[in-house]
Amino acid sequence: MEKTFLMVKPDGVARGLIGEIISRFENKGYTLNRLEMLTPSVEIAEAHYAEHKEKPFFGELVDFLTSGPVVAMEWEGENIIAVSRMMIGKTNPLDAQPGTIRGDLAATMSQNVIHGSDSAESAERELALWFVSEASHVS
Ligand code: CMP
Repeated sequence: MEKTFLMVKPDGVARGLIGEIISRFENKGYTLNRLEMLTPSVEIAEAHYAEHKEKPFFGELVDFLTSGPVVAMEWEGENIIAVSRMMIGKTNPLDAQPGTIRGDLAATMSQNVIHGSDSAESAERELALWFVSEASHVS
């Protein structure tokens, strides 16, 4: 069965959307395998967003992700990587359809409530990054 990494970002936690977001994936029929609430360190945030290192908004991304607690999760289910991306919706609020998490709950490009892995490779990398055995990544 396919696994993916989903994360409620600091804005989603601060706005009290953890339950709403978890419910959407539970209601879909997916299984929550692991969950950890933590305030990410700069190191894990930079590693998580490594592919965006050269982007002009990289610093903003890292500052935002380290600004407060997030909920890091491992979810499992059939075709969950592609389906969860559809459920999350597009990054740009102008493209995020109503009915998707971002379409219903997010109004800006940078504070967009949730992250989901975009491929099997990303899912494997992100799950290994966030679910290490020690709590060494907690600031
Ligand atoms: P996420 O799916 O977590 O992965 C990359 C993030 O970069 C994306 O969510 C957005 O929050 C953020 N992002 C993408 N484009 C921009 C942008 N132009 N300005 C600020 N943040 C952006």
